[in-house]
Amino acid sequence: MTAHLADAVASRLPFEVVRDPRAMRARVEDLRRDGRIIAVVPTMGFLHDGHLALLRAARARADVVVLTLFVNPTQFGPNEDLGRYPRDEAGDLAKAAACGVDLAFVPDVAAMYPPGSQTFVSVRELEQPMCGEKRPGHFTGVATVVTKLFAITQPHVAFFGEKDYQQLAIIRRLALDLDLDVEIVGHPIVREPDGLAMSSRNAYLEADQRRQALALSAGLAAAEAAVAAGERDSAAILAAARAPIAAQPEARIDYLELRDAADLTPIGRLEGPAVLAMAVFVGSTRLIDNRVLAPTSR
Ligand code: PAJ
Repeated sequence: MTAHLADAVASRLPFEVVRDPRAMRARVEDLRRDGRIIAVVPTMGFLHDGHLALLRAARARADVVVLTLFVNPTQFGPNEDLGRYPRDEAGDLAKAAACGVDLAFVPDVAAMYPPGSQTFVSVRELEQPMCGEKRPGHFTGVATVVTKLFAITQPHVAFFGEKDYQQLAIIRRLALDLDLDVEIVGHPIVREPDGLAMSSRNAYLEADQRRQALALSAGLAAAEAAVAAGERDSAAILAAARAPIAAQPEARIDYLELRDAADLTPIGRLEGPAVLAMAVFVGSTRLIDNRVLAPTSR
């Protein structure tokens, strides 16, 4: 969609689309002065029901709901899918209207990263394992853009999905460490009726790959069943999760790990809440999923 077309769509929306960071901050500062509670839902667009659930939760919680749409280049590696990441600004804005969004912040890359930008936020330990190990620099890009989006949209409360479990842990940590006065709210994973976690990247899957992608949620369910049957050994729980994935010809595990649910340190036995987290390539599409397991799961 060209900027011109998007502007034509924007002019018919029941809310304002702001593209300039300073204009956005001026808008929210006025709203804060009027005593309004502001919620932000940061996204990279191509909105699906998972994103919309965050918007609805924000709507229920705040006076003003700000949606941000920005495909953030600093969180993509050089060989990743930045260039082909799916985009549909007009469709996203129409969906946002149906969820009662009050303001959309849709900056371009130059507005977010002006020439000479060189300041990055790094959450040193939490960004190391799992997706951090497989996608070097990814979480520094995420932490930096989220910090900037908070500075620009000045929210009282911000909503993030548990689908990106490590990302949520990193954002909670950075808000605490940088004394940001924003409440971070996590939202449960929204799934398709057959169990596949919703993701903008599901659009890349061909029909047979879409079927094979069910192995991720099947792996989580198998691990949960093992825990319910009394299994406490990490290796055995991981083996249960691995089996349905290994059975799919186009599925390749990028990582599959069981870690402490709070600080993401490795565990040998399940003695308290732990997160079973995975990234799996199905063909060339990398999907993630996770579930919190506790020794009492049944
Ligand atoms: P994006 O992948 O667009 O996701 C935006 C938000 O929607 C994230 O908080 C993500 O966890 C949540 N989300 C995505 N799929 C979900 C699902 N199936 N159920 C529940 N929540 C879901 O995550 C990002 O963008 C970016 O890294 C961002 C935080 C915007 C920084 O650029």
